[in-house]
Amino acid sequence: MEKERCILAYSGGLDTSALVPYMQEKFGYEIVCALVNVGRMKDLESLRLRGLTAGAIESVVIEAEEEFLTDYAFEALKANALYEGKYPLHSALSRPLISKKMVELAHQWGAKYIAHGCTAKGNDQVRMDVSIRCLDPDITVLGPAREWGMTRPQLLDYLAERGIDLPLTKKNPYSIDENLWGRAIECGELEDPWVAPPADAYQFTVDPADAPDEAEEIVVSFEKGIPVAIDGQKMGPVELVEKLDIIGGKHGFGRVDMVENRLVGIKSRETYEVAGSLALIKAHKELEDLVFTRELSRFKLGVDQRLTELIYEGLWFSPLAYCLRSFITESQKHVTGDVRLKYYKGNCWAAGRRSPYSLYDTNLATYGHGDTFSHESAKGFIQLWGLPVEVYARKHQAK
Ligand code: ARG
Repeated sequence: MEKERCILAYSGGLDTSALVPYMQEKFGYEIVCALVNVGRMKDLESLRLRGLTAGAIESVVIEAEEEFLTDYAFEALKANALYEGKYPLHSALSRPLISKKMVELAHQWGAKYIAHGCTAKGNDQVRMDVSIRCLDPDITVLGPAREWGMTRPQLLDYLAERGIDLPLTKKNPYSIDENLWGRAIECGELEDPWVAPPADAYQFTVDPADAPDEAEEIVVSFEKGIPVAIDGQKMGPVELVEKLDIIGGKHGFGRVDMVENRLVGIKSRETYEVAGSLALIKAHKELEDLVFTRELSRFKLGVDQRLTELIYEGLWFSPLAYCLRSFITESQKHVTGDVRLKYYKGNCWAAGRRSPYSLYDTNLATYGHGDTFSHESAKGFIQLWGLPVEVYARKHQAK
């Protein structure tokens, strides 16, 4: 009888490597390892080879850095997406893309199973499982790392017993998930929310105390809500985000330390380095404030918030998320222009903004010469504006 095939969302790390022999032995599957590069991955070829060493029949790398930014991260940017006001969702945004790639491979390889290495406590298992089912409900999603009950040292022994020798002994106290939109650092000392993150948790940002004494200013340009240039120099999404990461990191900007409400009901202490994404969200929102009408600004806040929750909760491919994204895309047609971002000692703020579609009218706003605002209309407007509450007050206020 032919063996069943399973596509494994592979990272090259200890858990997903151990999953290869584990699933072969436990279920008798043929395993195809698939590693999706969503940015910041080094030495992809050696990671790919690890999958073969672990016993996979094939091991592939899928390059998806640019696709990740344009089709996922920038869609979230248009929504100024910050979960609980702080986290730019880099992990949450990568899972639907990884899932999509896994489903494509499953179809290519005639596989009915897709496996991932997520643990039972995280959000990512939900995002992978639900995304895959949205794309192909006939595929069975497996997450054996949730149940195998093996610790890190046990996993190393498990591989060693099978003669699988991988360079995985180095002990990293943290659990890291990183891509072009950010870096998450969990576990180790960070599990105590009272303990300040140790210096070694951070990799891309300096301590703000050690940042340069000189402020730095750059100009970020957007076209229809998408960042396209820095200081007038056009660049592709990958280069642009990487550049903002470096500038922010140098100034100690982009560190987030928060207690977050996970989808599975747990509160967790999360530490992020998100200099590039956070700067872009600040700049993007600033430009929206210049070109949106008041009604659009207010209404979109609610849409942004809802989409942010859907992304966090693994519902990227849901009908509601599609509908909200199409509203948001429509809203971006005038979000074109420039924002001056200023960096200094752990901070980043907008120091100026301009757009050909700016609704800012100096003649209306000015307290100086050239004022065209109708002063006499103000009085009558206020009279009517306050009328409902005045009527109420007359009715109910005890004299
Ligand atoms: N708390 C973040 C989220 O749920 C980051 C998760 C990081 N993922 C990981 N496998 N370490 O999106």
